[in-house]
Amino acid sequence: MAQNWTPGSWRQKPIQQVPEYPDAAALAATEATLATYPPLVFAGEARRLKKQLANVAEGNAFLLQGGDCAESFAEHGADNIRDFFRAFLQMAVVLTYGAQLPVVKVGRIAGQFAKPRSSNVEVLDGVTLPSYRGDIINGIEFNEASRIPNPERQLDAYRQSAATLNLLRAFAMGGYANLENVHQWMLGFIKDSPQADRYRKLADRISETMDFMKAIGISADNNPSLRETDFFTSHEALLLGYEEALTRVDSTSGDWYATSGHMLWIGDRTRQLDHAHVEYFRGIKNPIGLKCGPSLTPDNLIELIDALNPANEAGRLTLICRFGHDKVADSLPKLIRAVEKEGRKVVWSCDPMHGNTITLNHYKTRPFERILSEVESFFQIHRAEGTHPGGIHIEMTGKDVTECTGGARAVTADSLSDRYHTHCDPRLNADQALELAFLLSERMKSGRDEKRLAIANA
Ligand code: PEP
Ligand code: CO
Repeated sequence: MAQNWTPGSWRQKPIQQVPEYPDAAALAATEATLATYPPLVFAGEARRLKKQLANVAEGNAFLLQGGDCAESFAEHGADNIRDFFRAFLQMAVVLTYGAQLPVVKVGRIAGQFAKPRSSNVEVLDGVTLPSYRGDIINGIEFNEASRIPNPERQLDAYRQSAATLNLLRAFAMGGYANLENVHQWMLGFIKDSPQADRYRKLADRISETMDFMKAIGISADNNPSLRETDFFTSHEALLLGYEEALTRVDSTSGDWYATSGHMLWIGDRTRQLDHAHVEYFRGIKNPIGLKCGPSLTPDNLIELIDALNPANEAGRLTLICRFGHDKVADSLPKLIRAVEKEGRKVVWSCDPMHGNTITLNHYKTRPFERILSEVESFFQIHRAEGTHPGGIHIEMTGKDVTECTGGARAVTADSLSDRYHTHCDPRLNADQALELAFLLSERMKSGRDEKRLAIANA
């Protein structure tokens, strides 16, 4: 167990990105209420995810993590959850085929509500108000009342997370995630895609594999792994009072676990070694993520790894790299070398979203080509360093939004306003997300072919 740690020891440390609640007593009362509520996840599930992530760290699996930048109360509904899950599972199948490895599935969902902001205030038409910090804290509407942090929102976020998780569990275990279904959805996507010809080859191979399995008698009826799937939840644990209230001792192991989600991560703005977020994270046993942006030095990173994973446990720590398509070649290799030199076991994941945000026509957007380019560089760099490009971390939705430009059915700067619904950062729409999976899958397959050829010619 971490020394001198309690679920509340973070309160003694300096902290970034804290909302200013006007009524401290009301906040404390809400936290006390939350502390009596049931956990959202069970420690055994977090351990299961950690085991799967250990496989990723060892090069034997691939991590797909994705979902909204910020979940919202307004977009909470069965259709959104279903459409997200559908798009996500299709990506997972395509990536499984490309990587020829099991894909560990982790949603940014059922708890992804609190947002760090680059400025404490937002100015619109000469009016200055506190920034929106996510639905768990205040309202997005641009008026004074809605921007006041309101603790009651934490109870709403908890309930929404519970309902979302309940539906996801039903989908994952109740037959909806059946591989045959996912395959049919994927064929529907191909049929309608302007890039159908490009993706068909890979899709045909997946279809042939499915037919072959059927022919030898492997089907969803006799094989649970074809009709059920493991699906885990994750979010940025920014609002530590909420997290503390849901931090519980696991009766099986006697260890402390965050029970607001299976995996939590530390954002790029709150990863200071001696600050509150690192303090909180060092004591929980869940698998955790650390966002790594361009300002992170190799020495910083090793110190953070010392604090967050002192036992060098594989699967405990995922480094979520978010440099930008033009910075990744400069930033990533030195971090990989430091980690390798020190023999640290980590999962390397690529977040190609947060370093590639630009503004067009007053909309925050991300060009699809830059997103793809950052992931491709990430793969190339790992290949050159001889390390495993373990996964991707993306912001996506199952809906047909127009938030990121580009893709086969190109979203243009002028069409951004058509369906721009995000509460925070621009997300890939369902087609763009699946396209990204196809393009990466092609790349992984050609990487494998090259390797085979090199071995055969050696
Ligand atoms: C996010 O993941 O939405 C986010 C704010 O990322 P980062 O901490 O990497 O900026
Ligand atoms: Co974001």
